[in-house]
Amino acid sequence: MGRIGIVGTGSYLPEKVLTNYDLEQFLDTSDEWIYTRTGIRQRRVAAPEQATSDLAKVACERALEAAGMEPEEVELIILATITPDTHCPAGANWLEAKLGAVNAVSMDVTAACTGFIFALSVAEQYLRCGTYRNALVAASEVMTRTLDWNDRTTCILWGDGAGAVVLKEVEDDSGILSIHIHTDGAHGDTLLLPGGGSKTTPISHESVDKKLHTLQMIEANQSFKVAVKRFTEACEEALAHNGLDISDVKVIIPHQANLRILQAMAKRLNVPMEKVYVNIERYGNISSATVPIALDEAVRDGTIQKGDLVLLTAFGGGLTWGSSLIRW
Ligand code: UT7
Repeated sequence: MGRIGIVGTGSYLPEKVLTNYDLEQFLDTSDEWIYTRTGIRQRRVAAPEQATSDLAKVACERALEAAGMEPEEVELIILATITPDTHCPAGANWLEAKLGAVNAVSMDVTAACTGFIFALSVAEQYLRCGTYRNALVAASEVMTRTLDWNDRTTCILWGDGAGAVVLKEVEDDSGILSIHIHTDGAHGDTLLLPGGGSKTTPISHESVDKKLHTLQMIEANQSFKVAVKRFTEACEEALAHNGLDISDVKVIIPHQANLRILQAMAKRLNVPMEKVYVNIERYGNISSATVPIALDEAVRDGTIQKGDLVLLTAFGGGLTWGSSLIRW
């Protein structure tokens, strides 16, 4: 069997833009602080009627169009998200229905900001086993509805959006060369959405008053350091596994967590920032969706050309981290 490759990419960002200046209106912060500490200037916010599957639907339609496929042809849908429309049914089930992917089976994968790489690995395994012939792998988040808008350390970071890819067996020497994923459950409380699960249900006035239903970042500057280490290790692991050097890689598509994290990673890998795809200035951190959105942009703006080596890497809550090396 040939390798499994990405044969189409798509993304969708909601129209509404929330700039750092908008945040200054109600938060003790400044554009200068946010930009110098994170690299973010603005983020997108989903419209009130848009849920995670609505954003994913558009990204998936664009990916299918790029792959020359119809929704009815899709056999497997994996949606990476920590903000599904509902906990039951899964976000992927809503997406399947909205897409009209009547012949697909669909499921969610939860791995926070590394979700897309986890979802890619699940789909790739199914395709390699021959269980399914193609897969739509999407990542979509409405992070802005998980935020405490009074918590200036956390709320300035996040935004909404979706990205998607179509996977199929490819016949040339392109395709996914490797995927490595890792978790460390012992440090799960550093990036946490405590409410809504069995630990805190039924939802009570107390749980709402304690802000258990909003995203919490405990010692964010500690996770900054761990992120730099894990991003770098994940890239090195992919290169070592394939017997390749970072100089062979055309572009690194990292999870857009913080520009300074990406700069520190580039320094450790000894690569110029020109090799690192960055769009955090426009979108902020969209958790699992940042990698496929950046990948789609890099494909569409010509950064990625046929034959190029592309290195995906991410780190996030869980803790989770991973990488994937792809020959385009
Ligand atoms: O996607 C998953 C991976 N992402 C992460 O793991 C996040 C990693 N962490 C980060 O990106 C950074 O730690 C932050 C951007 C969250 C914070 O940047 P920092 O350079 O680590 O700042 P800090 O937390 O050390 O805070 C420095 C100061 C504090 O004031 P004092 O204590 O020095 O007086 C904060 O209160 O900046 C203050 N501060 C702010 N000031 C203005 C915190 N947030 C803000 C704000 N505006 N929005």
